[in-house]
Amino acid sequence: MEHEKKIAAIASVSLVKNGMIVGLGSGSTAIHMIRKLGEEVEKGLSMKGVPSSEKTAQLAQDLGIPLIPLEKAGRLDINIDGADEFDPQFRLIKGGGGALLREKILAYNAKLNVIITDSEKKVKTLGKFKLPLETIPFATPTLHAELNEMGLKPVLRELDGKPYRTDENNCILDVDILEVRDVNELNRTLIEIPGVVETGLFLKTTDLIIMGQGNEILFFRNDREREPSST
Ligand code: A5P
Repeated sequence: MEHEKKIAAIASVSLVKNGMIVGLGSGSTAIHMIRKLGEEVEKGLSMKGVPSSEKTAQLAQDLGIPLIPLEKAGRLDINIDGADEFDPQFRLIKGGGGALLREKILAYNAKLNVIITDSEKKVKTLGKFKLPLETIPFATPTLHAELNEMGLKPVLRELDGKPYRTDENNCILDVDILEVRDVNELNRTLIEIPGVVETGLFLKTTDLIIMGQGNEILFFRNDREREPSST
């Protein structure tokens, strides 16, 4: 899978042109992309990156990729990120690495969203991968109980025996959506619960998926009209 991730990631970097502002995703596939971008910057490519996580920011800095904060960037020319799953309607589950909130903010603020994946991420129905929800620590125990009642089998994500904290100092509850028929409806329901900051469902932002499959690189283009302010 690492090879598939790498070839998809490298292919995505050819979309980055001089002068572009680029959203830099998080996760193992994004790392391949950032490394390649670092090589191109070293060869003379002029671009600026907006990182989706502290880890990504650190890696980009180490590689000499110039970074700017989102508020100075305006709309990103392109945002390149990984995903945990995608379905035939270009809907994604993201957040396996815990960076879903900033990732979704970058996706929302980008003119073009490119997802880079290996072939295992392609599914008919979302849900084999647990859906991450970013939650406010104060509300997390109550949310856990409520989501349990909804049949979503929440699990509090932990790191070294303690609740995992995101870059925004929130918690993550991973929920089971395998039995859910309508993810759009589920997303609306979840996002309305106070204390849920964001969900890992990226339903309307993806323009292009670049997938490695063996030694092949496949491009899936989403030709559907994109609503300017939808996630
Ligand atoms: C990070 O929070 C995630 O959204 C990642 O983009 C996603 O988990 C994909 O990660 P990998 O590229 O490591 O599979």
